[in-house]
Amino acid sequence: MLRIAKANKLSGQVKVPGDKSISHRAVMFGALAEGQTTIEGFLPGADCLSTISCFRKLGISITQAGDRVTVEGKGWFGLQEPEEILDVGNSGTTIRLMAGILATQPFHAVVEGDESIAKRPMRRVVGPLRQMGAKIDGRKQGEFTPLSIRGGDLNGIAYQSPVASAQVKSAILLAGLQAKGVTSVTEPLLSRDHTERMLRAFGVDVRQDGLTVSVEGGQKLTGRHIVVPGDISSAAFLIAAVMMVPGSSLLIENVGMNPSRTGIIDVVRAMGGTIECRNERIVNEEPVADLYVVHSELTATVVEGDLIPRLIDEIPVIAVMATQASGKTIIRDAEELKVKETDRIVTVVSELSKFGAKVTPTDDGMIIEGKTELHGAEIDSMGDHRIGMAMAVAGLAASGTTSIGNASAIDVSFPGFAGLLANIAVE
Ligand code: S3P
Repeated sequence: MLRIAKANKLSGQVKVPGDKSISHRAVMFGALAEGQTTIEGFLPGADCLSTISCFRKLGISITQAGDRVTVEGKGWFGLQEPEEILDVGNSGTTIRLMAGILATQPFHAVVEGDESIAKRPMRRVVGPLRQMGAKIDGRKQGEFTPLSIRGGDLNGIAYQSPVASAQVKSAILLAGLQAKGVTSVTEPLLSRDHTERMLRAFGVDVRQDGLTVSVEGGQKLTGRHIVVPGDISSAAFLIAAVMMVPGSSLLIENVGMNPSRTGIIDVVRAMGGTIECRNERIVNEEPVADLYVVHSELTATVVEGDLIPRLIDEIPVIAVMATQASGKTIIRDAEELKVKETDRIVTVVSELSKFGAKVTPTDDGMIIEGKTELHGAEIDSMGDHRIGMAMAVAGLAASGTTSIGNASAIDVSFPGFAGLLANIAVE
């Protein structure tokens, strides 16, 4: 249980934990590479620890202490048939990317996760991997976990993905690295491109042509040092908190600024919020900056179209922020919210309404009417880390106190969240 009191203001200088997407990939690609990979800035959150645990079960030696990780890569076919079920916990990225990797391996593996993973769609990766030649089964014709995977002997495909999903794109490209010929994925809109950037850093030739990415089969990865930037999806909660609480300002250092992830900054600015990017630099293949964020009076906006994949994980906290913006904020084209850790249209509406917010669900998003005075509420994270944190941010601006039940879910992506908020909040 996390208790949040109304904050008078927020101020200070902070760092957010490492990027979740990049941390997963650094461990996976390190495991497949030849030679050692060292990682600094790794996110020691539950999701990325699940990735480490799965690759250990696949025979890879990995040491982890806080944000430092060493992976002893044994080459692509150095993985061993696991003796146990591979448990991904709550992590969609782990199961979907690992499915692509296991599809190339000449052995059998069973993969499952928690109650939330059991409800999330898997055919979006199982379908194309089967087309490439992998033998995969699961409940409801392969739609749901547990997945049973026997891989090997793949053929390249040209896949038109119906969804803009980095997990789908990455699973197919990873399988493609050990398939005959060329494998390409074309997306309806650009999703995050950390896989493409990091594969290149590991020495792989990845081609990009508009919305199509392709790789040639039979390529090797070479171990290297990876520096993971802070997660903009975690910084988003702090940015929103500053916008919610008058008089606040905050310097958030070392935030990943990959353009496929910075939709939150575009939206806050469109709403009239002040975010200054300082000290912009490139670390490994990823842009990084320090963000100076100043409380601003917000006005409503429309969040739609190709912006959606660039901020999909930030929509719960954008909805929270919109309660303090004057006018009607409309979020649309965001059906993907329904298949995240929870159905985030349902969970945002149910939990945010408890504060007295005016939020209406739609088929592909929601409408929030502001500006509304929020009152403290008893919230349940529903086991969804981002719902827990988004509602904690609402609690900072709500009168009285707010309690967040099932708050341990927050450790999935932002260990230390409560302590960090306590450090910057002036009651
Ligand atoms: C992720 C991709 C996104 C995102 C998730 C992490 C990744 O999911 O929501 O938190 O690391 O590739 P989709 O690929 O399902 O859009």
